Amino acid sequence: MSKLAPSPLDPVSRDVVEPLHRQSKRQLISAVAPMAVRAVTGRIREGTWDPSRTESGKRWLADKMVALDPQKAALCHLLCRSIGARRVVEAGTSYGVSTIYLAAAVRDNLAADGAGPSDGTAGPVVIGTEHEPGKVAAAQANIARAGLAGLVDIREGDLRETLVDVDGPIDFMLVDIWIPMALPALELVTPRLRPGALVVCDNVVSGAREYRDYLAFVRDPDGPFTSVTIPGQGGLEISMKR
Ligand SMILES: C[S@@+](CC[C@H](N)C(=O)[O-])C[C@H]1O[C@@H](n2cnc3c(N)ncnc32)[C@H](O)[C@@H]1O
Repeated sequence: MSKLAPSPLDPVSRDVVEPLHRQSKRQLISAVAPMAVRAVTGRIREGTWDPSRTESGKRWLADKMVALDPQKAALCHLLCRSIGARRVVEAGTSYGVSTIYLAAAVRDNLAADGAGPSDGTAGPVVIGTEHEPGKVAAAQANIARAGLAGLVDIREGDLRETLVDVDGPIDFMLVDIWIPMALPALELVTPRLRPGALVVCDNVVSGAREYRDYLAFVRDPDGPFTSVTIPGQGGLEISMKR
């Protein structure tokens, strides 16, 4: 028996995401050495280890997938199913891998509810955002192949503009974005999150130093969230809107 639980996705979506997960992993493995060199030169020349904070690093990252790994994506799917999520925001769409898990969960929630025509409140959707036009095109194609295009609204551009007018109530948010944008993304969406909404943020243990402003916000006992850190594979922060 496999050590890991099987994918929660339907066969069509699975056929789309599995090669993308493999491609992302290959990209990551072949990027380890250039990433190390880039981190050191970035630190020397531009004062930061983080490539997403330097102009040369941003150019280098422009076509990289950096997809959420399959177990973390499956966890997001499960959390969305568990809370009956219908409106979801994703900061950082890239090629649409995590978007497919989120949209599949929304579709499965609607089917489980026997959802009928819209009741006039904001409809079910995954609002993704991505500022690289090439990635937006790839994501749209992948989401369409998974049969989920009708449930996804990908907003092309900088999230500080694209997420300004998101209609709530939002049930779930995935923060999987270059680190400096994590807190701005969450701050924009927080007023639209319903009580009990969940926010998942990737790599907060491996990037604890870089995420310190984000983590201070979600862990503030007087703030709007209750938060837990899941260690392993770079870590995940799961925060619940109070
Ligand atoms: C880690 S990747 C997202 C991976 C995706 N969630 C998945 O699992 O396939 C982060 C993405 O955020 C995008 N991004 C970074 N800063 C952004 C910004 N200010 N506005 C919109 N997108 C941004 C990057 O281009 C990159 O594709």
